[in-house]
Amino acid sequence: MSHGWAVVTGASSGIGKAFAQVLAAEGFDLVLTARREDRLRELAASLPVKTAIVAADLGEAGAPQRLFEFTQSRGIAPALLINNAGFGVFGEFRNQNLDRQLEMVRVNCSAVTALTHLFLPAMIERRQGDILIVASTASFQAVPYQTVYAATKAFDLIFSEGIAEEVKRFGVRVCAVCPGQTRTEFHAIANEPIPEVMSVHTAEQVARIGLRALRKGKHHVICGFSNRMGMELQRLAPRRWVTAISERMFRPAG
Ligand SMILES: NC(=O)c1ccc[n+]([C@@H]2O[C@H](COP(=O)([O-])OP(=O)(O)OC[C@H]3O[C@@H](n4cnc5c(N)ncnc54)[C@H](OP(=O)(O)O)[C@@H]3O)[C@@H](O)[C@H]2O)c1
Repeated sequence: MSHGWAVVTGASSGIGKAFAQVLAAEGFDLVLTARREDRLRELAASLPVKTAIVAADLGEAGAPQRLFEFTQSRGIAPALLINNAGFGVFGEFRNQNLDRQLEMVRVNCSAVTALTHLFLPAMIERRQGDILIVASTASFQAVPYQTVYAATKAFDLIFSEGIAEEVKRFGVRVCAVCPGQTRTEFHAIANEPIPEVMSVHTAEQVARIGLRALRKGKHHVICGFSNRMGMELQRLAPRRWVTAISERMFRPAG
């Protein structure tokens, strides 16, 4: 039996693709979106549920509205919105291309805000609906050399927590899932050397952790025990120390 429709952004790869696979196995029909349409088609063909594909660049200002209108034109009222699409850029801020940094703000923050704003009213009206936002362990402190990325992910976490409190009385649940290092295409796209950390998750683990927390009514969840401990412990240290340690961990070679 279908659980209704879920919209998954960034479904062409990594965590978004894993969300699509986990949700399809649960019986959700899926609206899959990303820029790489060929990958979305391949994924859709492998899933045993109804799917609809929207090729969209969430870095474009009108893309969230077009995605929303697509669902409306098909009579799709999603029970679940997964705001997952996102990317990072690694390196010294002053040397990074400004357009790429601003694109990151649009994809990681503006599109998340717009999609949440567009899909929320119908959920509130139905007194039912779930929104999951993929934040990061980078949401909890500044990360030099991923400065804009960490700021976008701090936005995602704070945004999720604020909206979650606003809408819980209408029966709508909102949760931010905060993965640490996860095996996807993320690091290659960010041009980031993969940091040595204790805990590395698969995309499927992140998807399952996020969905479980959302359904328990949590407003955020950090993936993995060592990531959770790390985030708790660093709260006890002066913020400046945490940033300075992070600067040494991530300083580009050379
Ligand atoms: N991997 C990690 O270690 C890690 C850790 C913490 C948080 N996260 C977060 O997890 C989320 C998913 O990343 P991932 O690790 O699964 O990386 P990924 O494998 O690179 O997947 C990123 C997804 O986002 C989509 N995307 C990127 N730019 C887009 C744009 N302009 N318009 C529409 N879609 C776009 C990509 O699709 P197209 O390229 O086809 O458009 C792709 O489906 C991101 O929000 C990321 O910040 C990842």
